[in-house]
Amino acid sequence: MKRRDMLGLAALTAALIATSALSPTSALAQEKKWTIGFSQVTTIEPWRAQFNKDILAEAAKHPDVNLIITDGEDKTEKQVADVENLIRQQVDALLISPKESAGLTGVVQEAIEAKIPVFVLDRNVDTKDYTQFVGGDNKLIGRAAGEYAVELLGGKGKAKGNVVEIWGGMGTEPAHDRHDGFHEFTDKEPGIKYLLDKQSGDWKQDQAYNIMATALRNNEHIDLVYGHNDPMAYGAYLAAKDAGREKEMKFIGIDGLPNEGVQLVNKGELTATFVYATPGAEGLRQAIKYLNGEKVEKEVILPTKKITKENAAEVLKENGINP
Ligand code: FRU
Repeated sequence: MKRRDMLGLAALTAALIATSALSPTSALAQEKKWTIGFSQVTTIEPWRAQFNKDILAEAAKHPDVNLIITDGEDKTEKQVADVENLIRQQVDALLISPKESAGLTGVVQEAIEAKIPVFVLDRNVDTKDYTQFVGGDNKLIGRAAGEYAVELLGGKGKAKGNVVEIWGGMGTEPAHDRHDGFHEFTDKEPGIKYLLDKQSGDWKQDQAYNIMATALRNNEHIDLVYGHNDPMAYGAYLAAKDAGREKEMKFIGIDGLPNEGVQLVNKGELTATFVYATPGAEGLRQAIKYLNGEKVEKEVILPTKKITKENAAEVLKENGINP
């Protein structure tokens, strides 16, 4: 990890501790109108770190809100315990970005039964009884990636090539939607061959590296890699680079964080990424709106954007990064 990233993480951790210290029983919290609990699945992945930064920045604009953030440490059991804890603290609203659907549905239902309004962010659960879902449209993003893959492989009706797809977490809706959307386009092309059968890197760069290293050993030619997120697409790129084969193929990822995926595209390491905006700020705004008595939609879908070499530098500039 770069020193700058470590400092960022240290600051974030400090901020998390500071916010969590404001339990509803503290004097400061009692002066606040609303206590909102946010159960985050993990804090180490770059997209999660950005997500927490976004929600903390939004919280700073609302002096009447006491935000408690918990870290599920990427484990279902830990996240279930976190939510049970927030329910016991009788938070006014619960925001949750779950590790996976099945394992977190029960505790979300418990919160709903305890009359706590629940806002599900990014990954879904297996119930629609929550107050609201806020996140990106993963099917749409998958479709955009599939359409672009077909273009890169020779165009509609003519596309040809060997494709490696590295799945995100199998128990999550985003991974399935990103797969389904992609295949709506690529399955129409008889010239496209898939080299792997449902291999999951669980959203992690190192796991994707290993999957790709094996795929490279077993296949003489690979034309395109589709990673369900940028860390995995980049992990695959690194494996190809270590095998001296990175020029042989294209790499597509998803997330499009300026300081991660967009920079990788700008450097020519990834061919494309698709923005998957974090629901941190919007999720908190919606919860506050609801608590203040306003009506909210059942679903708020955040927009996406395709990033290629054509617009990467411009997107970096828009985000204050010197390309
Ligand atoms: C981070 C992450 C992102 C991905 C999202 C899907 O934990 O893996 O990279 O877009 O979760 O839920």
